[in-house]
Amino acid sequence: MKPPRKLHIKSYGCQMNVYDAQRMVDALAGEGFVETAHADVADLVILNTCHIREKASEKVYSELGRLRAAKQEAARNGREMKIAVAGCVAQAEGEEIIRRAPVVDVVVGPQSYHHLPQLLQRATHEGRAIETEFPAEDKFVYLPQPKPDAIRARGISAFVTVQEGCDKFCTFCVVPYTRGTEVSRPVARIVDDVKRLADNGVREITVIGQNVNAYHGEGVDGRSWTLGRLLHRLAEVPGIVRPRYSTSHPSDVDETLIAAHRDLPVLMPFVHLPVQSGSDRILAAMNRKHTVHDYRNVIDRFRAVRQDIAFSSDFIVGFPGETEEDFSATLALVAQIGYAAAYSFKYSPRPGTPAAEIRETVSATDMDERLARLQELIDSQQTAINRAAIGSTIDVLFERAARNAGQIVGRTAYLQPAHVMAPPDIIGQVLPVRIDSLERYSLLGELAPSASAHFSRPESSQITIGA
Ligand code: 5AD
Ligand code: SF4
Repeated sequence: MKPPRKLHIKSYGCQMNVYDAQRMVDALAGEGFVETAHADVADLVILNTCHIREKASEKVYSELGRLRAAKQEAARNGREMKIAVAGCVAQAEGEEIIRRAPVVDVVVGPQSYHHLPQLLQRATHEGRAIETEFPAEDKFVYLPQPKPDAIRARGISAFVTVQEGCDKFCTFCVVPYTRGTEVSRPVARIVDDVKRLADNGVREITVIGQNVNAYHGEGVDGRSWTLGRLLHRLAEVPGIVRPRYSTSHPSDVDETLIAAHRDLPVLMPFVHLPVQSGSDRILAAMNRKHTVHDYRNVIDRFRAVRQDIAFSSDFIVGFPGETEEDFSATLALVAQIGYAAAYSFKYSPRPGTPAAEIRETVSATDMDERLARLQELIDSQQTAINRAAIGSTIDVLFERAARNAGQIVGRTAYLQPAHVMAPPDIIGQVLPVRIDSLERYSLLGELAPSASAHFSRPESSQITIGA
């Protein structure tokens, strides 16, 4: 038998890239590859790239520079190292990547990961292989399933792609171009995947999609199902104690999703609902298809059915033409909503997107200053929520041994990390924890005496957010 070949994957960007990286590992396991944490010793290095902002793709090119040296060193030792670029930079730049970085052997777009074994062969015979078309077939049908030991090794929380692509065309965003139009996977396949995960120890699933609440996959009755219906079905899978979903668009929140939060106690009351800006003028220029008022209404609809619900969001500062007044409106919206977490970015023009053509720009100094002000506000809200947890008892799903010996780390419903001293057999269980203190963003506590392995709805007093 041939010795296993070593595979190193480095992922950038979003949760979907994390999921895709695992599927690439699964696809290549059948070819005799085993994963290694060290690029230098790998026979194949895959950079799973992100194109959403400038820095993300710049990082890829500097990493390719480093890999060139590693590849040369491997060759000196009589070993061949292949380098592949996958993900959204691969999709957006295609051949250009090989022109800029001739060290690359394979360029593969996100819809073609099931072709990786053939592409590697082609690179061996022809020197290079590039595939960035959108194939007609559904890659999920062809991507092999992870082996039980691979699922177990990945831990108790897993992502499951249910939808890919986006039809919204926000003017700043490359996703509709790199991931294509919206495609939803059929319910039965998703249920099979989730059952397999649950049978192998997974307790929390996050169903993901670029616009996950636009999900409209074929249901088991042959009709189109919404995300709300899908979540009802997934909540029934034995072993799944914490379903989540991400990322949602405010305009696609329908009554079935609200009903899922009303009817499913296990559905985590934490929703990532990006708004990008608090100014109607900028939202229109971004082609977000909703106003600030619409967004607040959506938040109110969620809060009406589940008072302990918390939100996170994404913000862009310095969108072309953003004035100080527009930015103040963003701060006002953040102050009004009260976020448990949020990500904020400086606008970065993406080639080929409509916003990249807009001439009015915001100066680098103004962008830096606005980003700092926004992050300070978001940080103060997050810290307030974390502080409010001190003294209360909160359900935590335990995930793994922490770096500090004897400690186990898990997460609350709001994804706050929580550490306790406890034996490792609590991993995979939801247990109440009495929170004693806060260390930066981590909660520290001890298992509450009435430990029970069942989820109970957190008390609403644990979070003091909202107007
Ligand atoms: N510039 C800055 N941030 C961006 N995002 C998407 N495109 C851009 C861009 N061109 C941010 C949005 C989105 C998140 C994933 O990345 O806030 O929600
Ligand atoms: Fe990009 Fe999200 Fe807008 Fe789709 S909805 S274009 S993924 S920002």
